[in-house]
Amino acid sequence: MKIASKWIKHRVLAQYPSIRKHLPETHLFSPHYLWSMLQRHDTLYIKPVVGSGGYGIIRVKRRGKTSFAIQKDMKRYRVNSKVALLQLLRRLMSSKKRYLIQKGINLVSIKKRPIDYRLLILRPESEWKVMGTIGKWAAPGKIVTNHCRGGKPINLGPSLKMSLGCSEERCQRVENTINRVGMSVAETLGNRYRMRQLGLDIGIDKKLRIWILEVNTGPRYQLFRYHHDRSLYPKIVGYMRQINGR
Ligand SMILES: Nc1ncnc2c1ncn2[C@@H]1O[C@H](COP(=O)(O)OP(=O)(O)OP(=O)(O)O)[C@@H](O)[C@H]1O
Ligand SMILES: [Mg+2]
Repeated sequence: MKIASKWIKHRVLAQYPSIRKHLPETHLFSPHYLWSMLQRHDTLYIKPVVGSGGYGIIRVKRRGKTSFAIQKDMKRYRVNSKVALLQLLRRLMSSKKRYLIQKGINLVSIKKRPIDYRLLILRPESEWKVMGTIGKWAAPGKIVTNHCRGGKPINLGPSLKMSLGCSEERCQRVENTINRVGMSVAETLGNRYRMRQLGLDIGIDKKLRIWILEVNTGPRYQLFRYHHDRSLYPKIVGYMRQINGR
């Protein structure tokens, strides 16, 4: 089963305390939450409840008391009042869609280009299996890392080493935490809806905290072609055949 609504997935996951602590604060978009979240966070992401490929995503950054920088795709805007911010957002958001408003995570980055990570977990038979993690490095000037928007694959270890100077041991610990968080998602959301494939978009912030940006229930996995473990991609393809042939 696939679930398209990011809001439904968020609410199900937020029921589990061990997962909730890895979820950035998220609400359905409304002016009320826009103002209240801007008091607590300097960066917000606004994204369609049903959307993919980074489409329609808007970032708002607080620059001063009533000064804000907004970016959607490659377009940047600056406004100097709350009224102007809301007017601009209404113009940038489709009136036919609902949106989420989420705390922006200060993602690890290389050359100021953010990186986030795709963790793939499959259940070809009765047990969930962690396949692995691969990074996506945003194209210059972009606020999303999606492959279809020019994001480039990058391996976890080298990316943490290059961005934060992490030791191999540290990278391994981060990977273990990611796998543990992913397995909790598989064993809760995944089992509840009898899923067999999950792709988590994982954010790592500059303090090495792990965040679940979203959970894809029909994930693309072609990025794993670039995983340093060359035996991984054929293994995934085999499991996916098994899953699709069920
Ligand atoms: N809260 C956030 N903080 C920082 N970056 C974010 C945040 N939410 C989203 N992003 C960036 O935007 C990208 C796309 O967001 P998200 O995965 O939620 O939507 P989508 O890509 O449109 O959906 P799908 O993965 O189903 O195609 C993320 O991979 C990440 O680079
Ligand atoms: Mg995504």
